[in-house]
Amino acid sequence: MTDETAFLWGAASASYQVEGGWQADGKGLCNWDVYTNVYRVTEPVSGKQETGNVAINAYDRAQYLQDIALMQSLGLNAYRFSISWARLLPDGVGRINEAGIAHYKLFVDDLIAAGIEPVVTLFHWDMPQALEERGGWLNRDSIGWFRNYARVVREALGDKVSKFITFNEPFINLFLIEPTVENIKAGIGSPFAITEAQYARQAVAMHHWLLASAETIGDYRAAGYRGTIGLALPLMPMIPETPGKAEDIAAASIGDAIINRWCLDAMFKGRYPDEIITEFGRRNPDFVVTEADLAILAANRPDFLGVNFYAPAYVRHDATVPFGFRWFDTNPDPEPAAFNGPVRPDYLKILLERIRDDYGNPTVYITENGAGFGETDEVMERGMIMDPRRADYITRHVDAVLAARANGANVQGYMVWSLFDNFEWLQGYGRRFGIVHVDFETQKRTTKLSFEIYREIIEKNV
Ligand code: NOJ
Repeated sequence: MTDETAFLWGAASASYQVEGGWQADGKGLCNWDVYTNVYRVTEPVSGKQETGNVAINAYDRAQYLQDIALMQSLGLNAYRFSISWARLLPDGVGRINEAGIAHYKLFVDDLIAAGIEPVVTLFHWDMPQALEERGGWLNRDSIGWFRNYARVVREALGDKVSKFITFNEPFINLFLIEPTVENIKAGIGSPFAITEAQYARQAVAMHHWLLASAETIGDYRAAGYRGTIGLALPLMPMIPETPGKAEDIAAASIGDAIINRWCLDAMFKGRYPDEIITEFGRRNPDFVVTEADLAILAANRPDFLGVNFYAPAYVRHDATVPFGFRWFDTNPDPEPAAFNGPVRPDYLKILLERIRDDYGNPTVYITENGAGFGETDEVMERGMIMDPRRADYITRHVDAVLAARANGANVQGYMVWSLFDNFEWLQGYGRRFGIVHVDFETQKRTTKLSFEIYREIIEKNV
């Protein structure tokens, strides 16, 4: 049995990034299967045809049992993973694939037998292709498709799993990844050149995610389950690049509304920030938020907030980008950035204290935190991969979490992204986040220094 009230020391992953087995046992295709097999995985830097067809082979039981043994040796008491919707419902709706259900039931049983609590994400970006072709998240029917899928999952796993996450990182998937994939397919050279029209369109998809999440939370409660259910947000404190410069402050403020407050206000206050309604409403007449929609949000507050934290964002006003909000490509700090931005654990503490103060101090789990580097940043010494920057990153961020907790923030867990190197979306296999190295040719796992450091952190704190 797992202790569901203990502080969670975990690791996180997502189906498409680790499973492989893309056509195994009756699985349907998802949008990423099609994209990676038909188009080139992007960043021009990678230039390689990389897919999640095999990934790190985590669908394979012989492999994942070894991986669970490694989790045990690390001392984890929680493992966050996502379910592939198209494994359970190959067409997204309708026919259920029993082999897919059996796989996840067994995986959950195997985790629990190892003393590791499963934390299940329902949607981590892999949309059944059949639904993508019906308009995906822009179609309001997606709310019903998702509720149906969530029902299938809870009927299969609801008696074994007590923590569910409806969606992972709304902003990143809907406003960065999906439009970038679209640009790549259209042959537009610069992948992150997302237009204001794309932003405006995607607001509708965001609205549907938030409604689908709230309705699913309501359904879960109405069905009488005893577990808890929440969302995982990519939260990013915004720092005006030039302190005191009014234009940068304004850009940081709209960035904060779009990336942070939109979902937080929806989840914990049952409303959207005024700027969201006005700025998106005026750019897209299809973005309509009714009182009835807001009532659904208000009635279905999540049990917890998952915080995915990598970095704050330095923000500069730039009239040539959507909303004048430029971020991500700037880091005035002396310490070099990790892949997802400046290394600033102090801002994780600030963020957790803001959630405590502005959002009623909900239960929080750090559902992701970690650092991505390229292959050449990690060297092998005496059978161990040396990744001192990642080890230091994790140590300092855990310290920040524990400091916020000591100050009354209701943080109940920390999950590193990620246990294993895996398929990093647009960057393919060229970007490694694991505390365990994976040789993608042989599937051999080799622990890194950061694995040892995280093991010591867990040992010291349980
Ligand atoms: C956030 C996403 O949830 C995850 O899929 C991704 O691999 C990590 N960040 C690292 O960029």
